[in-house]
Amino acid sequence: MTTFHPIASAGPANAALRGTLGSPGAVARRARRARRGLARRGLAWRGLARLLPAAVLAATALAPLLAPAPARAAEEVNLYSYRQPFLIQPLLDAFTAETGIKVNIVYAQKGMLEKLKAEGMNSPADAVLTVDIGRLTDLVDADLVQPVQSKVLEANIPAHYRHPDGKWFGLSARARIFWASRDRVKPGEVASYDDLAKPAMKGRLCLRSGKHAYNVSLIAARIAHNGIDATRDWLVKVRDNLARKPQGNDRAQAKAIYEGVCDLGVANTYYTGKMATNEKKTEQQDWAKAVRVVFPDQDGVGTHVNVSGAAVTRAAKHRDNAVRLLEFLSGDAAQKLYAERNFEYPVKSGVALHPLVASWGAFKADTISLAEVAKHRAAASRLVDEVKFNDGPGS
Ligand SMILES: [Fe+2]
Repeated sequence: MTTFHPIASAGPANAALRGTLGSPGAVARRARRARRGLARRGLAWRGLARLLPAAVLAATALAPLLAPAPARAAEEVNLYSYRQPFLIQPLLDAFTAETGIKVNIVYAQKGMLEKLKAEGMNSPADAVLTVDIGRLTDLVDADLVQPVQSKVLEANIPAHYRHPDGKWFGLSARARIFWASRDRVKPGEVASYDDLAKPAMKGRLCLRSGKHAYNVSLIAARIAHNGIDATRDWLVKVRDNLARKPQGNDRAQAKAIYEGVCDLGVANTYYTGKMATNEKKTEQQDWAKAVRVVFPDQDGVGTHVNVSGAAVTRAAKHRDNAVRLLEFLSGDAAQKLYAERNFEYPVKSGVALHPLVASWGAFKADTISLAEVAKHRAAASRLVDEVKFNDGPGS
């Protein structure tokens, strides 16, 4: 079953919704109707309906998505999001304040592709927010999204950060950088992704799984630039330089460097900021202090960059509002907030960075089209299997 978790939408919309709900009895009746609506749509939400008290289910702004076709508000848009509420909610509130368009949102951690496939043209989702060109491309490949032409989006978002036919648009950017031990890696000792393969790095690397989307995209970019054979040779050497089998998430590589397990890791830039400012898990601040950010390939094609992004679904019932939301998210104010709250880079040029992000320095990003990189993802994934990358050194 899916693991979608409905969470209340923009404050004003939710307040308005509560205002229309009326008595507790009316709330319960509405919840029952919503659950029947779900069953009719064949969704795997029964577990969710059991988990949540009826009033909670009805009181979330998801209810209008799920109820059996009530008369809809004049202007609204329905959104599925892999991006988290702390990041998205302020932007949606600002969008509603500016446009009067209510946003109904379902936050998810996984299962979005399967859910959209199951729903088909009956999906209530008008647009999706997600991360990584892998997931964006999966939506295109499954024919779940539609082309959008927008002068605003085309002006705000560089061509290499959007699908050539407008089937997805990058909204924030993250560089896949090195974390180098401040104590054990000399400045300048590593400067290129090629250096991950050099003999001097034997036993000094830590990486997460080669099959993780972030690494698959990096390897796909290498294939796009260097071809499959050169990338295979590189990947075998990288594998044999590992200090341990690939494991953990990006942050786990900084932890390993902090603990002296290895000297060099590969990670997305924003994790540096999230660790350095983590007030709940303060040990992560120590991990961040142990590493220096190095932007690879500054003398070559530039550092590999991936995006979070959005797409308008093929099933969209509120297409114009969905496009308007994407345009809003690509504008100056949203770009600043969107990028800085998660220590990412705006895709729109001229937008200020978070001071911590700015402190890592300016860098040259690889400007190869991410849609082109995405074409090599399947080959990259196969290569990881072929060289048994995840079995570690000497496999
Ligand atoms: Fe991430």
